[in-house]
Amino acid sequence: MKFKKKILCIGAGYVGGPSMAMIAYKCPDCRVTVVDVNSDRIDAWNSAELPVYEPGLDKIVKKTRDKNLFFAKNIENQIRENDIIFVSVNTPTKTYGAGAGMASDLQFVEKTARQILKHSRSSKIVIEKSTLPVKTALAMERILSSGKGKLTFEVLSNPEFMAEGTAISDLENPDRVLIGSHETKNGLKARAELTEIYARWIPLEKIITSNIWSSELSKLVANAFLAQRVSSINSISALCEKTDADISEVAKAVGMDSRIGNKFLNAGIGFGGSCFKKDILNLVYLCSHYGLQEVASYWESVVKINEYQQERFIANILKNMFSTLAGKKICIFGFAFKADTGDTRESPAIYITRKLISEHAEVNISDPKALKNAAIDLAAIKENVKYIEDPYRAVAGCHALVILTEWDLYKKLNFQKIYNSMAKPAFLFDGRNIVDHKKCFSIGFNVYPIGKPALSHFKN
Ligand code: NAD
Ligand code: UGA
Repeated sequence: MKFKKKILCIGAGYVGGPSMAMIAYKCPDCRVTVVDVNSDRIDAWNSAELPVYEPGLDKIVKKTRDKNLFFAKNIENQIRENDIIFVSVNTPTKTYGAGAGMASDLQFVEKTARQILKHSRSSKIVIEKSTLPVKTALAMERILSSGKGKLTFEVLSNPEFMAEGTAISDLENPDRVLIGSHETKNGLKARAELTEIYARWIPLEKIITSNIWSSELSKLVANAFLAQRVSSINSISALCEKTDADISEVAKAVGMDSRIGNKFLNAGIGFGGSCFKKDILNLVYLCSHYGLQEVASYWESVVKINEYQQERFIANILKNMFSTLAGKKICIFGFAFKADTGDTRESPAIYITRKLISEHAEVNISDPKALKNAAIDLAAIKENVKYIEDPYRAVAGCHALVILTEWDLYKKLNFQKIYNSMAKPAFLFDGRNIVDHKKCFSIGFNVYPIGKPALSHFKN
């Protein structure tokens, strides 16, 4: 079959895989190929067990794989054969040199640009899909235009706004798609070509265009605003715990103001995931770089509140369990950074588990999708940690149950059965406010939610 467009994505991760599967699914006349330096990852994309768990992903990969969606290893060939190239490589926080702990590590993006230049035999559109500091396109363009030949490379910014766990519905029905380009003849032509792809399934009014720098910056700002809401509600949860106010009631009252809105106001153990922290730190670094110290500190406080929330949670466990966890068994329900994903990157559960272990507790971890990653994250801990998928088996004999991920299945468990199997007094720390606290209290648990009065059977 002759394909209308030949599209390549470099980077077969959480973004590259699902977003390209969606394009292939919606555009059967386009050939979409995804490559990666990690050949195990490519093998997994070609196998029955995909490397990324996302509800609905299996279905669309099955429908498109080896028809117009391909996962391939030979990056050089694929660069040569395709006309539109998405760059969806990782952009972690730098761990070395200038800007360590703050700035984005752009080495993978830069390597990709150099590879594209080296192996291209025709002009191409190169699209930044990774989240990048504003002005990265300039560096990409400088590299791509350093060749001796006549080839041209038009760089676009098309940041991805999908969230994990809801990636497929976010990709199928996004709030908006953002395309940034230069406002030159070639820039506008490339913008129109990318718009044409998305317009196959997304209404035109949702495909917004901007200058390339606004597009790069909008992605960082969107994540910073989302994370800021989580830190805002978490900061108020601390005040609720001191004043007997209830964070759910406060969030409801505040969120019903249509100017504020009710989404992203769930208090918990703090945000995790591979992006919020790194993107805010990147924003903080950019502000400092441009001499905007006040702006930098404002955004840095979002990360500080997030760390404070996790510290508070641990301190609360320790204080209420008579100031010692040594030799006590603690069961963790949920290790993923949010529900409906197996991803544990920057999950608060990693930090919380390490802290529990450092207090000499024995920890049983249960999670329906994230146990493999949990074992990798905690590989340095050789003793006192067990991974048990069945929640009832994991919690039996434990002194405390700690809920860290809002998996639906935890809301539906038989808490009487759980209580009966635990050591007494039984403690329940609900880090996501997902279970029926009054019911659990009446069963016999001492219940400690986030931002709500504790329900304890102990007399003062
Ligand atoms: P990831 O680590 O899951 O995937 C990145 C992949 O790129 C890896 O498999 C890596 O091997 C590959 N790679 C790196 N350098 C390469 C090279 N030179 N050639 C070929 N492959 C290379 O990362 P991710 O979660 O998919 O995120 C990718 C980007 O998208 C990041 O900038 C991130 O901030 C952004 N983003 C992520 C999400 C999300 O939900 N995870 C959402 C929106 C945006
Ligand atoms: C987030 C953004 O929502 C996406 O738009 C963005 O594309 C993505 O980052 C990215 O750039 O990587 P993601 O991290 O996958 O998506 O998941 P979110 O739903 O945003 O949750 C992030 C964290 O905040 C989770 O740990 C979640 O539990 C926490 N959270 C979220 C709360 O604690 N309370 C809330 O009310 C909402």
